[in-house]
Amino acid sequence: MSARLIDGKAFAAGIRVRVAESVDSLAIRPGLAVVLVGTDPASQVYVRNKAKQTAETGMVSFKHELPEDVSEAELLALIDRLNADPEVHGILVQLPLPSQIDSGKVINAIDVAKDVDGFTIQNVGRLTTGLPALVPCTPLGCLLMLRHHLGHLSGLNAVVVGRSNIVGKPMASLLLREHCTVTIAHSRTGDLPALCRSAEILVAAVGRPEFVQGDWIGEGATVIDVGINRLPAPERGEGKTRIVGDVAFSQAVGHAGAITPVPGGVGPMTIACLLANTLTACCRANGIEPPADLTG
Ligand code: GUN
Repeated sequence: MSARLIDGKAFAAGIRVRVAESVDSLAIRPGLAVVLVGTDPASQVYVRNKAKQTAETGMVSFKHELPEDVSEAELLALIDRLNADPEVHGILVQLPLPSQIDSGKVINAIDVAKDVDGFTIQNVGRLTTGLPALVPCTPLGCLLMLRHHLGHLSGLNAVVVGRSNIVGKPMASLLLREHCTVTIAHSRTGDLPALCRSAEILVAAVGRPEFVQGDWIGEGATVIDVGINRLPAPERGEGKTRIVGDVAFSQAVGHAGAITPVPGGVGPMTIACLLANTLTACCRANGIEPPADLTG
């Protein structure tokens, strides 16, 4: 058996078109403010891509770059200004933040209605209690791909490997909301291979390269690989790297029914869902119903 590939790149492109069409039909231009502290190269690339795609979908992109040694008080003052700015509908503070800043305090200072990362305690609480929420972008992207691929998810056995606040826990909440039977596995889970084998939906979000082995995957399971791990690839030349997921892909395709590749699976969906969340936030701020297929 060879698994079907779930093409996140194409799916994300479709979402961007949907977002752009909706933006076009609005009388207001949604605005997304992205805050970057310091000069971490990976964060700079993410922020540049977010700003570019925001503008491409017809939304307004506001970029705020602050020095590495910015104080917590200065960052909180910026968040206050963005919360009060009517042209800003979404606020994203790129993580990680430098050690002098309490990330939790900064994230929770963001207006819940503008929290397009879905990281505030209030949005987390809204998601877990079934209220309309802004949902973290990566798990939202995973959910949209699962719905598209499987139709309805009700009654399926789902195993989420990884318990982070950004992916594992909100992914589990979303799957539970879809009426899956959900297990969250982590580093202390006993007999992880057997548990994974029982999954009809397997989401790997551990941040360890090729951790999930092919024979951990039940025949025909749908596998979502959230990992983005960079490994040295000397065969490509000195200093070169290659990107692999959390699943041993070449083994997994012999067992899974469908699988997201890395790269080109979950990765492109994250920014697409950030744009969708910004549209959702703008619609809700203006009393307009956001497109149901983009809200999770
Ligand atoms: N850093 C890495 N991923 C993310 C994300 O999804 N949101 C934010 N704010 N920072 C990140």
